[in-house]
Amino acid sequence: MKSLIIYYSTYRKNTEKIAQLFAEKLGCELINIKNTDDVSIDGYDLIGFGSGIYKESLSPKLFKLVEDLDVKDKNVFVFSTSGVGMKFYNHKLVRLLESKEAIIKGNFACKGSFTARDFSNNKIFDIFGKFSQGHPNTKDFKNAEEFIKNII
Ligand SMILES: Cc1cc2nc3c(=O)[nH]c(=O)nc-3n(C[C@H](O)[C@H](O)[C@H](O)COP(=O)(O)O)c2cc1C
Repeated sequence: MKSLIIYYSTYRKNTEKIAQLFAEKLGCELINIKNTDDVSIDGYDLIGFGSGIYKESLSPKLFKLVEDLDVKDKNVFVFSTSGVGMKFYNHKLVRLLESKEAIIKGNFACKGSFTARDFSNNKIFDIFGKFSQGHPNTKDFKNAEEFIKNII
């Protein structure tokens, strides 16, 4: 399957590290949409969409891009890195892709390091911030590798 990874990663390039692993395993190109609006998925059979989580959401730029793409009958997957590392952040984009009749192959999430004071005064994030240090780590990369093997 001709594959492409489309992602948004800006804070610490945590998501980019996962995107690079997926691209390497798939032997495909990757595009950070932070720097471009020029994205075409013509001729690709499998597309991975990834983002860091910023204020409870994947990048609005990624949503906007998916809104504009024709993903009908394309194989797709979603991935994210976040302070908490939970998959629930992916669900809104998965639902959007489903509504556009894409074929959902799966979704992946892992922790990405952050410092709480960079975006929140909420004490709970201090704790999540501590637990996120060093991520994505070796185990996250191993999990990402397993995930992508199962997609192909
Ligand atoms: C402005 C900002 C807001 C964030 N909001 C959340 C959040 O709501 N939930 C969470 O779990 N992590 C949050 N984080 C942590 C990031 O999701 C995490 O560091 C992620 O790995 C960043 O990805 P990137 O380095 O690819 O940009 C936030 C980080 C920043 C900088």
